[in-house]
Amino acid sequence: MSVSRRDFIATGASTAAAIAAGASPAVALPSPAAGLRSARPASRPLVIASTNGLRGVKLAYDQIVAGADTLDAIIAGVNLVELDPDDQSVGLGGLPNEEGVVQLDASVMHGPTRRAGAVGCLEDIATPSLVAKAVMDYTDHIMLVGADARRFAINMGFKTQDLLTEKTRQDWLRWKARLNRRDAWLDHDDDVRIKFTTGTINMNAVNAAGDVSSCTTTSGMAWKVPGRVGDSPIIGAGQYCDNTVGAAGSTGRGEANIKVCGAFLAVEFMRNGMSPEQALLTVIERVIAMTESRLLDPKGRPYFDLNFYAMTKDGRYAGASAYEGSDFAVCDEKGARVEPCAFLYPGSQRPVAAPAER
Ligand code: GLY
Repeated sequence: MSVSRRDFIATGASTAAAIAAGASPAVALPSPAAGLRSARPASRPLVIASTNGLRGVKLAYDQIVAGADTLDAIIAGVNLVELDPDDQSVGLGGLPNEEGVVQLDASVMHGPTRRAGAVGCLEDIATPSLVAKAVMDYTDHIMLVGADARRFAINMGFKTQDLLTEKTRQDWLRWKARLNRRDAWLDHDDDVRIKFTTGTINMNAVNAAGDVSSCTTTSGMAWKVPGRVGDSPIIGAGQYCDNTVGAAGSTGRGEANIKVCGAFLAVEFMRNGMSPEQALLTVIERVIAMTESRLLDPKGRPYFDLNFYAMTKDGRYAGASAYEGSDFAVCDEKGARVEPCAFLYPGSQRPVAAPAER
């Protein structure tokens, strides 16, 4: 069975339409041999990430070539973004919850040792990815959350700091002022386009020997209910790797991903013979099939963004999104660059839901 990218996308779109019409998704798994196809040649070492990881994939790749462990290298890559006060998606300067408190989630997975670590709702520590690795390295557990995760980090030697930068504080105040016309806050005239957004970085790597690692870190959904934890720290949702198969991860609306354990599902699809691209598009179809109607437009297309990234142990890779126009970061022997994601809906932009009554 031979599946071109164009054919597969068309199949995906029709399957999504069928799902929207209430039919069961009918995605045929290609046979293992036929499914191992990709337009991009396999190459390793290889590092892929969400687009905000462009600087990070280069750093991680260089470290892997120099002999670093794949997990240490991708954590160094995401640390660049976590520590960047101008990036509002993760770590220092990440957009806060509805009370103006920055709460961070992260998880890591190390293929060769089959170990994992995660933190949820972590406050005051700029590098949750490193705290997640400390959970993996120093405890018999996988996830720590909230005040106890913070205390654990301090005991491990991490320094606390105020993660709310002046810019994110101003954005939060403007969002808060515009929340409800009938509250006691006065709206300002400035053009505020700050709504519920998610910002996250996922990074995955394989070295020359075929060892794989994955990491996802985020400040989560902007203006979230305090205590909300997204998909990023959930092993199997925000990221997952299996050293015999490959790795996958996601960015975007975590609530949609958690319900399908998207990273785990993508790795399982690749285990069963799908290419990274086929695996990710099939995961997105599953996401849509599992989405409640309030989050779908009349054509059954999601109102939210959710991107996935995947690589195989032998160095094939893809990014995918429901809508055309997304991209992702890659670094291999050809250098660091941005490449387009595969998509289900050619030529269409994400529909915007009608504004809710304020
Ligand atoms: N994917 C990031 C989040 O939903 O928190």
